[in-house]
Amino acid sequence: MAVPLLDLKAQFRPIEAGIRAALDRVLSSQQFVLGEEVAALEREISAHLGGVEAVGVASGTDALLLALMALEIGEGDEVITTPYTFFATASAIHRAGARPVFVDIDPATFLMRPDKAVRAITPRTRAILPVHLFGQMADMDPLLEAASRGIAVIEDAAQAIGATATMAGGKTIQAGTLGSFGCFSFFPSKNLGGAGDGGLVTTRDRDLADRIRSLRRHGEEASYVHTRVGLNSRLDALQAAVLRVKLPHLERWNAARENNASRYRLLFQAAGLTGSEGPLALPETRPGARHTYHQYVIRVRRRDDLMAHLRSAGIGCAVYYPIPLHLQRCFASLHHHPGDFPVSETAASSTLALPIYPELTEAQQAEVVDTIRGFYNR
Ligand SMILES: Cc1ncc(COP(=O)(O)O)c(C=O)c1O
Repeated sequence: MAVPLLDLKAQFRPIEAGIRAALDRVLSSQQFVLGEEVAALEREISAHLGGVEAVGVASGTDALLLALMALEIGEGDEVITTPYTFFATASAIHRAGARPVFVDIDPATFLMRPDKAVRAITPRTRAILPVHLFGQMADMDPLLEAASRGIAVIEDAAQAIGATATMAGGKTIQAGTLGSFGCFSFFPSKNLGGAGDGGLVTTRDRDLADRIRSLRRHGEEASYVHTRVGLNSRLDALQAAVLRVKLPHLERWNAARENNASRYRLLFQAAGLTGSEGPLALPETRPGARHTYHQYVIRVRRRDDLMAHLRSAGIGCAVYYPIPLHLQRCFASLHHHPGDFPVSETAASSTLALPIYPELTEAQQAEVVDTIRGFYNR
């Protein structure tokens, strides 16, 4: 039985009529950029996230860049992040003109080590940019404490819509609602994905939200009056219409992903593949956190051979991310070398993402686990 890494057609089938009607509505209106459809999505996502300001933009990458631009972070400034993330996290910092300062991750959760982030602060540090990688929130408490000393926290929540964490005071908060800004992606494969590129910036600060609204429209304050040089980075109405149909399903989809993760744990344990002697380490969730499993990433022995074995058996799998960002050639000017961030480098060479999408069936999961058991001859 073939098992794809992601099956967007399975998600589309039950909501097809609603999506087609929403697209028709936009076509009838002939209003394609921003407008009422985008405003409605912004209101609905704001309500979903507990009342933050929400500004639709063209992509998650632009959401990060716009957040940095709104804080006037640029040349001479440093922004602390991790090298084990999607390229856009660091490229946005670079494109803003600032220097990405990398710190290593926790080996079990793949999330930024907050102690290392706090130690990396210099007089040039303007922001810390934690990544809620694979659908789980980074440890925000120590970062927010640093922020109280005048450093912004920008959450890369591209992969984490719906994720929550329990803060030191016991309060449960949602990804993207704590920092100066939260940055989300609606890339089609995301837990909430559009029919193309799309993104969102969230903030609790009304002035900052207005700044993003201006920056996404070339820095316009009023028609043809530009107080800043912004981008053309508007969410389009067709995307907003699709996302509005999907948003009411998000909670159920995230719960199905969690359920699939629990089932994998049982199946892998029953197959004798985990534990101190086993060849696999399963994803770990921070205490008090809700993992939304954008990706289900395991640590494995003989990763590349296992990946080839799974692919030859028709099982979808992928490596996120094979080259940590400090070793990307485009960042050679940062003068990093192999060994600088050993935990990120180990993760890059030993992790594998397995199918976890909400519509994955029990039989498909059993097939994935059986195929992995076959590889390790268990
Ligand atoms: C962690 C992370 N940051 C940023 C982005 C950029 O989002 P987009 O692809 O919508 O530009 C992504 C998405 O791919 C991501 O996974």
